[in-house]
Amino acid sequence: MQASTHTDRSPSFALLEWYDRSARILPWRSPPGAPPPDPYRVWLSEVMLQQTTVAAVQPYFAKFVARWPTVAALAAADEADVMAAWAGLGYYSRARNLIACAREVARRGGFPDDEAALRALPGLGAYTAAAVAAIAFGRAAVVVDANVERVVSRLFAIVEPLPASRPAIRTATASITPDRRAGDFAQAMMDLGATVCTPRNPRCLLCPLRHDCRALARGLAETLPAKIAKKAKPQRTGHAWWIERHGAVWLVRRPDRGMLGSMRALPDDGWNAGADGHGMPPFVGDWRPAGVVRHGFTHFDLDLQLMLCAGDNLVQPLPCGPDGEFWPIDRIDEAGLPTVFAKAARLASAQR
Ligand code: ADE
Repeated sequence: MQASTHTDRSPSFALLEWYDRSARILPWRSPPGAPPPDPYRVWLSEVMLQQTTVAAVQPYFAKFVARWPTVAALAAADEADVMAAWAGLGYYSRARNLIACAREVARRGGFPDDEAALRALPGLGAYTAAAVAAIAFGRAAVVVDANVERVVSRLFAIVEPLPASRPAIRTATASITPDRRAGDFAQAMMDLGATVCTPRNPRCLLCPLRHDCRALARGLAETLPAKIAKKAKPQRTGHAWWIERHGAVWLVRRPDRGMLGSMRALPDDGWNAGADGHGMPPFVGDWRPAGVVRHGFTHFDLDLQLMLCAGDNLVQPLPCGPDGEFWPIDRIDEAGLPTVFAKAARLASAQR
């Protein structure tokens, strides 16, 4: 296959021609061929898009840029407000890193414009540095996300399973990354992976790279990339407590360190502390089971038994931790609950 030159027979040329016709219109993008978008919007979108779909990210991206339109505004934000605005996107360490990075960028007066300096910012990983360098600054960085891994594994018929094949995929991606329009190229690869070169039933007849694709020629397209089977996740259990009084529910602020750190939550029995929960309610009361919330975290699955205790004669302070507040149930969406507790709140609300 022809390497890095951008001739009219190279894969990058065919791909960019396709992108000019077929690019997805997304709020953090410039149209194909146009000057690059604001680095702040590129960086924010790339952080949000890690492990999260384009559809799920869009409303969060809109909310963030409306509330914090510049990196300086985000740097000046209260950390708890940012965490609450992030609630539901998951992988909360991303939000904490986001704030640390925004503060450093604001201190420096703007984003650096090359990959190595971007990589040196706090919490900004190799993928994000390459993506921002390419998309916001037109640098010929090698951008490899899961979509690109799939496209390149197929294009070059890399049959070795992931993750061992990553170095070969990177080398192959570098060999087709053009010097010009590197940002468009990276996003074209992502769009191709998302819309044509899909995990199942790839639409090879529509693919601008079909004449170059070695996996297609060998009838292997759908079988690549090969993956080592994942280990089953451990199953954990715990309890959470729904304590209701006068149309409000008792929410706590979780400790800064540990899972879902510093976020608002229902009180629970420490399923997060590395062991299954003890199930002892925080005080003697008229508790009844309200159902089980299932939630998948990165490293384990959780079954959380929700227990309800209602009574307008509950007295304050409640014997379940001082750092809490009664939150109006009809405004629970504004509490910034992480998804596992938002699910629990829906379960409880359905039974009121
Ligand atoms: N996934 C990661 N980055 C993306 C981008 N810039 N556009 C679409 N999907 C993406």
